[in-house]
Amino acid sequence: MWIKLVVVLLGVMLGWYLLDDFNAESLQGKRVIVTGASTGIGEQMAYHFCRLGAQVLVTSRREAALKKVVDNCREVGDPDGKYYYYAADMSDLTSTEKVIQEAVDRMGGLDYLVLNHILVHNLGGWEGSPENLTRLNTIMDVNFKAYVHLATHAMPHLDKTEGRVIVVSSVAGKLGQPFVAAYSASKFALDGFFSSLRQELILKGSKVSVTLGVIGLIGTENAVNKLLLFGKKFLLETLKPALPADAALAIIKGGANRQWEMYFPYLETRLITLIRDWMPKPLAAINRYLYS
Ligand SMILES: *[C@@H]1O[C@H](CO)[C@@H](O)[C@H](O)[C@H]1NC(C)=O
Repeated sequence: MWIKLVVVLLGVMLGWYLLDDFNAESLQGKRVIVTGASTGIGEQMAYHFCRLGAQVLVTSRREAALKKVVDNCREVGDPDGKYYYYAADMSDLTSTEKVIQEAVDRMGGLDYLVLNHILVHNLGGWEGSPENLTRLNTIMDVNFKAYVHLATHAMPHLDKTEGRVIVVSSVAGKLGQPFVAAYSASKFALDGFFSSLRQELILKGSKVSVTLGVIGLIGTENAVNKLLLFGKKFLLETLKPALPADAALAIIKGGANRQWEMYFPYLETRLITLIRDWMPKPLAAINRYLYS
């Protein structure tokens, strides 16, 4: 009985995994904001959007890096494409309104808000030190509150276009893992807030969709560096991180298809979240083993 259920479930998952009904044409002329777009998955999402004919405003703290992303966009996309950058620090919540305003002024509206930035910081234990407590505030501002503020300021514009909000989260936003407590909290918070907001949007009859991205280990420069710094070279060797460009495309597809949640790499992230509720202790033990 149980075996049958598991087989059917795996079959459905595999079918879903192989099903690719993404319409690349649908991105033509769409107006997109990508946050945290100067490196990693955000940068790769910007390139996909540009390649697929969208107008894009990229934002992050570093203006020089953003300028380079826009230059690269002209290579992979239209040399005369409408690509813009706007440098902003997401720990200053007043800058969130400026980002949206700038994008709407430049592109004349908004179809996709892709929330992707995070505060980059080292892995470490929760010691309860003053440093840990101060950092918790910044992490919640950047990783959580800035997402809420950006979505809030964007909502009137997204309502007009029946647009999409894409929230990039992590397996750490579905499963508690050691040495990332504050980061994990900010990602769980995103799930709570945006799943609740999605319900309200549906109740209101709004056509704006909210997609939560549950992302596993990706070989971005940041992720790799932090794991190496934490002495987790073997994790990178055993888990084989996926390519940022592949993660980026999967997230865009999930948003384009208005999925409530998307998982990448699909099998491992989806399995972890399914097993989490069935067998929390064995799963947690494996997780501790990997990080100890
Ligand atoms: C917490 O604080 C301690 C001591 O200040 C530090 O060693 C550790 O890396 C911090 N952890 C995090 C996650 O910031």
